[in-house]
Amino acid sequence: MTLQFSLGSAAPETVDTPCVVVGVYENGVLTSAAARVNTAAQGAIKQQIESGDISGKAGSTNVLFAPPGLTAKRVLVVGLGVQKSFDGARYQKIHLEAARALARLPIDSAVSYLTEVEVPQHDATWRVRTAALAADHATYRYTATFKPREKSSQPELGTVQFASGEDASIGLDQAKAIAEGVRFARELANLPPNICNPAYIADQATLFAERHEKVSCQVLDHVELEKLGFGSLLAVGRGSANKPKLVVLEYKGGNEEKPYAFVGKGITFDTGGISLKPGPGMEEMKFDMGGAAGVLGAFVAAVKMQLPVNLVCVVPAVENMPDGDSYRPGDVLTSLSGITIEVLNTDAEGRLILCDALTYTAQTFQPRAIIDAATLTGACVIALGKHASGLMTKHDDLADELLAAGEHALDRAWRLPLWDDYQVQLESGFADVANIGGKNAGAITAGCFLARFTEGQRWAHLDIAGTAWDEGRKGLATGRPVSLLAQWLIDRAGSGS
Ligand code: BES
Ligand code: MN
Ligand code: ZN
Repeated sequence: MTLQFSLGSAAPETVDTPCVVVGVYENGVLTSAAARVNTAAQGAIKQQIESGDISGKAGSTNVLFAPPGLTAKRVLVVGLGVQKSFDGARYQKIHLEAARALARLPIDSAVSYLTEVEVPQHDATWRVRTAALAADHATYRYTATFKPREKSSQPELGTVQFASGEDASIGLDQAKAIAEGVRFARELANLPPNICNPAYIADQATLFAERHEKVSCQVLDHVELEKLGFGSLLAVGRGSANKPKLVVLEYKGGNEEKPYAFVGKGITFDTGGISLKPGPGMEEMKFDMGGAAGVLGAFVAAVKMQLPVNLVCVVPAVENMPDGDSYRPGDVLTSLSGITIEVLNTDAEGRLILCDALTYTAQTFQPRAIIDAATLTGACVIALGKHASGLMTKHDDLADELLAAGEHALDRAWRLPLWDDYQVQLESGFADVANIGGKNAGAITAGCFLARFTEGQRWAHLDIAGTAWDEGRKGLATGRPVSLLAQWLIDRAGSGS
C-alpha cells in the first residue's frame, strides 16, 4: 500500500488521531506544537526530558501512549538535534526517522507537526514536499519477489496529515507526483535481472504511455537498430539472449518548442562480458539500469505534475553477457555517429550504449538540453562515495542549474572537470577512440568519451554509480536522481529558459 498525504491545521492537543508527531530540540527546547501538547498533557514531555528518556538527539524517537489531556491516542516525540545548526538535511532526516517509527506502530494514520519547524532558506511548500517525500521513501517496501504474505490483522500506516499554517498544497501535489516517479524507479531497479530485462523495461514504458495522455512510446528492436546503424550499442548486446531495445518516450506538455531530453543507461545486468567481473557482489550489477530507472522515474514525475514542458526520455536497454557471440577486447566498432571505437575492455559497456543513444537523441529531437544518468564508473564511487552524484558538463550554466536543483531537492551532485586535457587518455592506434582511458580519473575519462558524441549539444552527464542504490546484501535502489531531475524540470517550467 502506498502512503497517502493530506494537509491540515487542527490544534495538536485536540486533533483526533491515533498519533500526533511533535519535535523537541537537544537542549530541551520544545517546538510550539510540543509545548502545546506538553501543557495539555500536564508536562508529560518535559518530565521525560528531565528523566533523560527523551534526549532530543536528531532522529531519536519516543512514543507516549495515552497521555492525559489529549484527544490523540499517542504522541511520537522526535529529536531535532541542536537548534542552532538545524538545516534542510536534518529536516529530511527527522522526517525519515519519524516515518520509520510511525510504520512500526499499530496505527493507520497520524498527524505530524514537524512540518511547522522553521528551516533556514526554505518555505512551507518546500517543507511539506520534503516531509512527504521522506515519509514515502522511508515506508517503501520491496515485496515483488517474496511469497505473498497473509494480510495481518494489525492496522498499517496508510495516511499522514501534515500540519501547515500556510497553503502548501503545491508542495503536497509535487510530492505526490515525485513520489510516484521515485517508486517507479526504485521498483524497476530492485527487480531481479531475470525479470527486469530489456523487453521488460520496454513493456513498462509502453504501458505507462498507454495509460497517460500526451505521452507516446516507441520501442526500436535489434533489427531496426541494425538498420539504423547502432553498431556500438548492438555490440554490447550480442552476447545476450535478451536482445537490446531502444525505448523512446515522448511527453508533449508544452507548445511547439524543442524538448528537453533525458538519456539513461539501461544495462539490465552487467557481467562485464568477456572482461568478466569478479564473482563477489556481482549480483549488484542488476542495478546497472539505475540510470534508465532514474530518467524514467523523472519522466513519470513530470507527467504526473503535468509540467508545461516537452520532454523525451531515451533508454538503451541492453544486457552485457559473456558468450560465444560476445564482442571482445580488440574489436573495432562503428558507432551510429560514424566515430569508430576500439574496445579495450568489454566491461566499459555503459558508454558504448550511451554514445549511440546520445547521437540518436540529438539527431532525432534537437533537444534544448540533454541530461544523461548512468551507473557508469566504479571510479566515481571512489571519488565521491555514496553521497553525491558526479556531474560533468562543459556548460557552466547547465551545471549551475543542475547543482542548484540537487541542493534544493536534497539529491546532491558534485561537479568534476571535463577538460579536453583528459582526452589524450582515450587515444587509440586502431580507431578514432578507445573505450577506456587507463587508471587515472576514470569517471572523467568516461565523461570525456561521451563528450565526443555530444559536440554542439547542450549536454550534461550524471554518474550515479555511488548514489543509485544502498550498499550491502539488503541494499535497495534509492530512486536517485529522480528528485534532482524533477526539480530541474520544475525550475525550467517556471523560468521559461
Ligand atoms: N556498471 C559498471 C560501473 C559500476 C561499478 C557501477 C561498480 C557501480 C558500482 C561499469 O559498466 C563498469 O564496469 N565500469 C568499469 C570501467 C572500467 C572497465 C574502465 C569500472 O568502473 O570498473
Ligand atoms: Mn561494466
Ligand atoms: Zn555497467
